[in-house]
Amino acid sequence: MAEVIKPNLKNGHIDMPIPEGLDLKAEIAKMKKEKNAVILAHYYTTDEVQEIADYTGDSLGLAQQAAKTQADIILFAGVHFMAETAKVLCPNKKVLIPDLATSCSLADSINEKSLAEFKKQYPDHTVISYVNTTAEVKALTDIVVTSSNAQKIVSQLPADEKVIFGPDKNLGNYIKKVTGRENFVVWQGGCHVHDHFDPEKLRELKTQHPNAVVLAHPECPETILEQADVIGATSLLLKKSYELDAQEFIVATEPGIFYEMKKRSPQKTFIPVPNVNGRPLNVCINMKRNTIQKIYLTLKYEFPEVDIPKELGEKAQICINRMMEMSK
Ligand code: 13P
Ligand code: SF4
Repeated sequence: MAEVIKPNLKNGHIDMPIPEGLDLKAEIAKMKKEKNAVILAHYYTTDEVQEIADYTGDSLGLAQQAAKTQADIILFAGVHFMAETAKVLCPNKKVLIPDLATSCSLADSINEKSLAEFKKQYPDHTVISYVNTTAEVKALTDIVVTSSNAQKIVSQLPADEKVIFGPDKNLGNYIKKVTGRENFVVWQGGCHVHDHFDPEKLRELKTQHPNAVVLAHPECPETILEQADVIGATSLLLKKSYELDAQEFIVATEPGIFYEMKKRSPQKTFIPVPNVNGRPLNVCINMKRNTIQKIYLTLKYEFPEVDIPKELGEKAQICINRMMEMSK
């Protein structure tokens, strides 16, 4: 078979003109079939991307899908650390990412050097890292968690086990509180979306919508969480939005989730919480870098690909496998 020539990347993605009038959704569907490829998309990507995905989910759900897929190619529409996790779990599969520049402010708040230094200060501590970390940080980690399973996993550790939890300070403080653990050192990283919801605006929204249920992600600060009726990972917030009888929900997480919430409960109203800078929609710009045009080009050229050196991947896999085992 003739080798596909890899195009150049500009700002992390293929920058090529696409013929006008091309039905991108149909072309993507055709290529998925021909190449035995699957598209995994996080709930925070755009409506259009979620529409063409084979699976949408939160970080745990997508990692579980990646681990069990029979596809030869995984195209990951999320952020870089998520595609990396898929590659660690499936080292023999081709993992494609529409844009290499889909970073995450939380994952960027810690690196292997800073974690190694921190570990020296707390030598006898078990390192628990949120999945929002690079493969290098995971290689220095004992157990990975996501927001879906952090409480369950931390609760399984002996009460006197000393823990370093990173990098999200809000999730760390929340898990420390709900598990009542001592000797729980929290790294001070944060997500530029969840850490910036406006607590005063939330108070006003609650007054304006007294019957609304407030759903909040545990990456939000205490000033938001203390006002919430439900705290949980994106998949739990989604579940509550269609399971509860309430007709109005005030939602403190990335608004990409509204696509699935509205799809499942078209008659209900979902109200976003503005951010502290007055922005009515507090979006993750990294997630929104996944566009249908980039997905088309990435699938066509099977590029850019996420690659992880074998030894690093093997080290990172140990703590991810522990998470998969402990969250069963
Ligand atoms: P979830 O675990 O809810 O997917 O949250 C992780 C996250 O912040 C994705 O951006
Ligand atoms: Fe990272 Fe926050 Fe975006 Fe999630 S929402 S990918 S934690 S920056």
